[in-house]
Amino acid sequence: MNTTQAQPSSGAADGSPNRPVIIAFATQKGGMGKTTLSVLVASTLHYRKGINVAILDVDGAQLSVYNQRLREAKQLQNDEEASVRLQAQIASGIQPFVIKAGNPDQVPALLAELPGDVQLVLLDMPGNIDVEGYETAIKTVDYLIVPMETSEYSVTTGIGYINAIREIDLLPVHKLRVIWNKYKPSRDAEIADMLEERFKTMGLACLQSRVPQRDSYQDSTNRSTLFPMPANYLRNSGLKDLFTEIEVLTSLTPTTSDVIE
Ligand SMILES: Nc1ncnc2c1ncn2[C@@H]1O[C@H](COP(=O)(O)OP(=O)(O)O)[C@@H](O)[C@H]1O
Ligand SMILES: [Mg+2]
Repeated sequence: MNTTQAQPSSGAADGSPNRPVIIAFATQKGGMGKTTLSVLVASTLHYRKGINVAILDVDGAQLSVYNQRLREAKQLQNDEEASVRLQAQIASGIQPFVIKAGNPDQVPALLAELPGDVQLVLLDMPGNIDVEGYETAIKTVDYLIVPMETSEYSVTTGIGYINAIREIDLLPVHKLRVIWNKYKPSRDAEIADMLEERFKTMGLACLQSRVPQRDSYQDSTNRSTLFPMPANYLRNSGLKDLFTEIEVLTSLTPTTSDVIE
């Protein structure tokens, strides 16, 4: 498979055929899963689904994704097996996805620097809405996905963030989605269902897939920027549904049929 041959099935939201679809996982506090979800979605869609992805890491204070790639690249020097695996992956036509680092005000410039065949860009945003250029970055997105947990703190924070975005008219509500992260059905289903109904009355939609709380997602080897997440972590996880939901949302079609049973 050659990712450079992959073409989007349709143009992006502004109608231009070569513009990638841009998604940000964002909210106004740290620890909600912005970075984790960005990397999981990027790695799966890029390495398993043949959709050409790039991450713009504009959480300048942390640069978690960018630094993770640097760390992983360094580790490869002492890991023969992983190194051979990466070479095999490249030989099969799959280059590591592009990661660019910067600040939110640089997003338009970083987008312009991306290779022309990138189909999906994920923005890893800072947890502080007051960072310079925050609005510049958010204005570029097609979808803003707000990770939320069902705790009162998380819901209050998330809704506060969404209201702030809407008050300054940064994005229309149809570009906003909530995603339940760190979800435990037995603990969270009832309250999540109830909140979803309430959000609907605000015109706010939730993604149907809910990302479970899994210790394995905290292990950075399971959310590599160089390799797809191991299939055993994806099974029965709700993540498969998230990837499909994002493909449908963005009208991007996988070019490989890597089925995760
Ligand atoms: N679904 C999940 N299950 C378990 N741990 C999670 C999940 N999502 C995120 N985490 C953990 O929560 C912490 C914060 O996540 P992170 O993605 O860094 O948040 P943010 O980028 O919003 O600051 C990390 O330790 C991460 O591993
Ligand atoms: Mg982060």
